[in-house]
Amino acid sequence: MTVIVTGGAGFIGSNFIFYTLKNHPGYRVICLDKLTYAGNLSTLKDVMDKPNFKFVKADICDREAVYALFESEKPDVVVNFAAESHVDRSIESPDVFLRTNIIGASVLMDACRKFDTERFHQVSTDEVYGDLPIDRPDLFFTEETLLHTSSPYSSSKASADLLALAYHRTYGLPVTISRCSNNYGPYHFPEKLIPLMIANALNDKPLPVYGRGENIRDWLYVEDHCKAIDLILQKGRVGEVYNIGGHNEMRNIDIVKIILKELGKPESLITFVADRKGHDLRYAIDPAKIHGELGWLPETKFADGIKKTIKWYLENRSWWEEIISGEYTDYYDKMYSNR
Ligand code: NAD
Ligand code: TYD
Repeated sequence: MTVIVTGGAGFIGSNFIFYTLKNHPGYRVICLDKLTYAGNLSTLKDVMDKPNFKFVKADICDREAVYALFESEKPDVVVNFAAESHVDRSIESPDVFLRTNIIGASVLMDACRKFDTERFHQVSTDEVYGDLPIDRPDLFFTEETLLHTSSPYSSSKASADLLALAYHRTYGLPVTISRCSNNYGPYHFPEKLIPLMIANALNDKPLPVYGRGENIRDWLYVEDHCKAIDLILQKGRVGEVYNIGGHNEMRNIDIVKIILKELGKPESLITFVADRKGHDLRYAIDPAKIHGELGWLPETKFADGIKKTIKWYLENRSWWEEIISGEYTDYYDKMYSNR
């Protein structure tokens, strides 16, 4: 079995590569990644020398490079994690989101058609459903919920989902789609809420909470997401969408306070800043379908997962310190200095 994992030098893709190499030692895994600001080759250092792993630097929008890779590797399965993934960046500059997240996905699907790949799995997000009201805790996203996006990021992800379903119906391409809630865990890029707050707290810098911190996200430990995708590849039905989430809704402000407490830092570091434009209020997944059909349930409780994550950031300071000392400094100043 040969699996191409796109975006495998990023947060979830790298965790998926580790999960796959550990749980399916007989598979060949090829990581295709452009190494944008979010991709980091040092993340893959522990698997780089494995005989059944290969890294290929390429852009998923580069049709020639993608076809050449498919021609030489003949993948059985393609799992597409490659994306521009940060909502705030999509609000600043949508173009690259449309290019990578939509055009890139279509190039990969064309390659799957051309080379008869047995499965194309599109890694999507619960953000394609838009948001839910904070005062209606009885409402959840199901696979039937209408797509109703808020940001250029979520719109680009929804577009790719629609394309994948269209390729299935029109060309019979064997696609599956998963829509997961917010992940956290090792190798999470420090522009996102949890790693940003850990890094800032460790450096005694202000913790910028958007609005009043009352927005709710449904957090899932990254390994549980990887396990769910693996199950979909093994047992999922083609042409189907599977929501992934663990009923772990939390307000941003509560997450930030937990991080501060865990690190022994004062709440006076919390700084409320201007809200995100179009900020989604609440995400909440109903995972009944993947539980009922594939038997998936999350295994890591948030209380344990956040401790593991913080420990990882404490033990791997050089990984994130290198990131926040580079190009990230300009990004941080642009996004936060006059907020
Ligand atoms: P990330 O930003 O950490 O990593 C993205 C990776 O894709 C990087 O390695 C980057 O170099 C690569 N990439 C970007 N553009 C590329 C291109 N044109 N060609 C090849 N590679 C390219 O993202 P992540 O948080 O790991 O998210 C992975 C996927 O999961 C994304 O599709 C995202 O939409 C989805 N997702 C993320 C979350 C979350 O909480 N992070 C939740 C649900 C779904
Ligand atoms: P983020 O990690 O960017 O994920 P997403 O927007 O895709 O859910 O943000 C999670 C939540 O945290 C979101 O409600 C925005 C908020 N947030 C802050 O309050 N401050 C920050 O500096 C960041 C990056 C996010």
